[in-house]
Amino acid sequence: MQLYETIAGIRQALDSQRRTGQSIGLVPTMGALHAGHLALVDASKTANDLTVCSIFVNPTQFNNPDDLARYPKTLEADCKLLEEAGCDLVFAPSVAEMYPSLPVLKLNFGELETVLEGAFRPGHFNGVGIVVSKLFNIVQPDRAYFGQKDLQQVAVVKRLIRDLGFQLELVRQPIVREDDGLAMSSRNRNLSTDERQEAPALYRALVKAQEILRHEGSIETAKAAVVSYLENHPAFRLEYFEIANADTLQAVEQLQAPGATALCIAAHLGKTRLIDNLVL
Ligand code: PAJ
Repeated sequence: MQLYETIAGIRQALDSQRRTGQSIGLVPTMGALHAGHLALVDASKTANDLTVCSIFVNPTQFNNPDDLARYPKTLEADCKLLEEAGCDLVFAPSVAEMYPSLPVLKLNFGELETVLEGAFRPGHFNGVGIVVSKLFNIVQPDRAYFGQKDLQQVAVVKRLIRDLGFQLELVRQPIVREDDGLAMSSRNRNLSTDERQEAPALYRALVKAQEILRHEGSIETAKAAVVSYLENHPAFRLEYFEIANADTLQAVEQLQAPGATALCIAAHLGKTRLIDNLVL
């Protein structure tokens, strides 16, 4: 496995591989890797000749400076995990390498970014859109792998690919969870022991809502149940719980076809913000 820190370096390495007809899969990450990221690497390995994993804590997608400062950075351990997973190339540029000057471009995803993460993290999807576009231009992958954990991000990237005409296939992979249901996340490392014990309540709240909806309960009843469930877990500060269309992320008033309704939640646990979702 080769590690590249410059755009010129990885471009050159990939150009010679591409000329021999090798297909390329890209797994964009911000590092502090866990089994959720490694599942994306696995999926890429089964469908492509070469797998590239990028590790870049993208400052332009953080709307909260504390969140950026607290974001875990573990490049050495990440490279070890990627090597074991059979990743072929790692691209881990510095901020100066990716942004010799901060981009002035502004991407606006319309309705998609007025809800959920977009509403609570202003500017977040502008930063995601720019860095993902830049990674697509540098790596020119045949396929790019994204996790359902960030469902709205998948929708934003889908739109980006369509609107800018990137020639690649977006592949969405399911959420990988801990045994107790907590969705794996790099930010879980920031939880205290007590917070880590409380954390699966977020997933249990989603399961509760799912059960209510399965038993013909109304959307309003499901929402009220989630609010009251988390009121009984006062360590959490609920930011939103929404029942939305899984592709457009717009709130729905009734259940959609199978696979098209998403239960989306975000809450603060101490200083850490957690998100999760279930697609019905
Ligand atoms: P990051 O949070 O590191 O996540 C990288 C990829 O891993 C994303 O596609 C995310 O959805 C996926 N992922 C994270 N946790 C997962 C889990 N438990 N199960 C399955 N997939 C999971 O998302 C980003 O980085 C950034 O926004 C990025 C796309 C790299 C742009 O900077």
